[in-house]
Formats: sequence, C-alpha cells, structure tokens
Amino acid sequence: MQSPHYKKILLTGVNGQVGHALQQALAKQPALFGELVCLDRNKLDLSNPQAIRGAVQAIQPDLIINPAAYTAVDKAESEPDLAYAINAIAPGVLAEEAAKLGAKLIHFSTDYVYAGNKVGAYVENDATAPLSVYGKSKLAGEEAIRSVGLPSLIFRTSWVYGAYGKNFLHTILRLAKEREQLRIVADQVGAPTSSLCIAQAVLQVLARWDGERSGVYHLVNAGHTTWHGFATAIVDAYAQLQLTHHWQPLKALVANIEAITTADYPTPAVRPANSYLDCTKLSADFSVQLPDWREALMAEFQALPNQ
Ligand SMILES: NC(=O)c1ccc[n+]([C@@H]2O[C@H](COP(=O)([O-])OP(=O)(O)OC[C@H]3O[C@@H](n4cnc5c(N)ncnc54)[C@H](OP(=O)(O)O)[C@@H]3O)[C@@H](O)[C@H]2O)c1
Repeated sequence: MQSPHYKKILLTGVNGQVGHALQQALAKQPALFGELVCLDRNKLDLSNPQAIRGAVQAIQPDLIINPAAYTAVDKAESEPDLAYAINAIAPGVLAEEAAKLGAKLIHFSTDYVYAGNKVGAYVENDATAPLSVYGKSKLAGEEAIRSVGLPSLIFRTSWVYGAYGKNFLHTILRLAKEREQLRIVADQVGAPTSSLCIAQAVLQVLARWDGERSGVYHLVNAGHTTWHGFATAIVDAYAQLQLTHHWQPLKALVANIEAITTADYPTPAVRPANSYLDCTKLSADFSVQLPDWREALMAEFQALPNQ
C-alpha cells in the first residue's frame, strides 16, 4: 500500500467555516493522511502561546493547517490585543513549532490586507496596506510565518460564506424573511468565496505540494461582484428553489434590495473598496482553479438545511 502524503495533520478552528469544511473534505480523502487531529478553541486556545507550543510538541504533526482566526472585523477595532494574539502571534508560534519538527504549515489570510484602491484585480506581490486592525493583524501573521522560513502556504481568501457557519448568506436570508426592503452596500467589490470550494481547492493543493514552493497565494471563487450583487444573487437563488424545496417565502424580493454606498452604512472598521483577487498564481503553480462564485453559491444552496 502507498504511504499517505502526511502522517499526522493538526487542524485548528474546526468549528469555523473553513475549518469545518476542511474537516469534512479530509474525511473523504483518507489516502491523503494517516491521522487527523482536530482542535477547537476548548482544546487549544490560540491566544495562549505556551498552550500552542505544548499542543504541537505533544501531537507531533508533519502538517499543521490553521484556519482558526479572530474574524470579527468590526469588533477587532476595540479588541486589538486579542486580534493580534490570535491572528499575528499564534501563526508565528505555530510556524516556529512546526519548523522544530520539520513540519509544513498551511495558513489563511485575507483580502483585507490590501487598501482597495487598485484599479483591477490584486496580484500577490501588489503592495499591502491594510485599513483595519483585523487586516493589520492578519498581515502581521503572514509576516510572522515568513520570518520563520518553513515550507508554508498562505492562502488569502475573501468574503467567505457557506451553508455552514455564521456569514453573509445566512444574514441576508434572515433579513429577507423579516423585512420587505433591504439596503446593501454596492461600492465594495470582491469575490464571494464558498467554504466548500476553499476546502476542495486546499485538498487539491495538498495532494500536489512537495514543500518546494512556499508563499502567498490568492484563493477565491472566480468572478467578482459587490455586496449588493451578492445579496441579489442570494435572494434570486432562494426564490428559484423555494417552491420545489417547500421553503418559507421571503418578504424581500430582488427588486426591493436597494443599492447604497459605504458612506450610507458606517462601520467601526474601514473595508477596502476593491479587494478582487487574481488567482493566476494558484492555477499556474498547482493547476487548481475555483469555479465562478455564482456556481459555487448554487452548490452551497444545495447544502442548506430546511428553510
Ligand atoms: N470569514 C471571512 O469572510 C474571511 C474572509 C477572508 C479571509 N478569511 C480568513 O479565512 C480563515 C477562515 O475563516 P472562517 O471564515 O472559517 O472564520 P470563522 O468561521 O470565524 O472561524 C474562525 C474559527 O477560529 C476559532 N477561534 C477564534 N479564536 C480562537 C482562539 N482564541 N483559539 C482557538 N480558536 C479560535 C473560532 O472558534 P469558535 O468557533 O470557538 O469561535 C472559529 O472556529 C481565517 O484565517 C480568516 O481570517 C475569512
């Protein structure tokens, strides 16, 4: 029998969107690894560096996958120390401990490392200039991993959503059931990215990664839209499936989704106006391409629980 690519994988954040999707996807690929150790916040608090060192030394993985993060973008403005502990310090400690074992690291970062004033899609070597505490803390996490210099891949993704977890898809469906009128920001551009697609893409990369290549890769669904475009697509998809699935009707129709500006909807954290990410590098180095965001949205709809 062929030996697996990875003897023991340590996966963090298994109750989060990407961590959950990765756990499910890995369960369907038993040939890829020998053992999978899943840690949630109760088993490993990433704000505690000593706990991280102890866990990695006890588990002795040959691959660490770290989708756990402080993701409350607005709250991070008033909790910078906690955001930095989890998003900046913890990835560096994971990288140091992985390096001691000769292990590899997969980490996730964000489109919010960019300022958003570029015309067109961002490529990986464009200048970073995060506008928020969250974005700055995630960039500091990337830098901490880079400074350790182990075999590592950092996937910058964007606008993550899915049937599982707390996200924009569920917020829009809840609001569209409660209200006849929605007001959604139409001047921020990005790529809604399905957690299922992220997990599938990461597994494809893992099967092909020999550790030679390290660095940052954009990993988002193809195409781009605005939050208003995304909300419209969600309500439209629901309306298409509602009758056949016997789902509760929505109060808000597509025509009742008003396009507003960022200035009309002030938030504590400043978000980039354009965070559309070019994924050519991922495709060139690993032959991995994610589907268009509209196609991915329909696949996530198929996984939705009864509405
Ligand atoms: N969500 C987005 O729109 C988005 C966009 C761009 C990039 N990203 C990046 O993509 C990755 C995955 O994000 P996601 O959407 O899956 O996030 P998520 O759904 O918010 O999940 C984050 C996970 O991190 C865990 N966590 C938070 N603090 C922790 C701590 N102190 N110790 C241990 N675990 C802790 C959470 O645990 P609990 O379940 O206990 O809270 C949760 O399971 C992250 O690196 C994120 O920065 C996300």
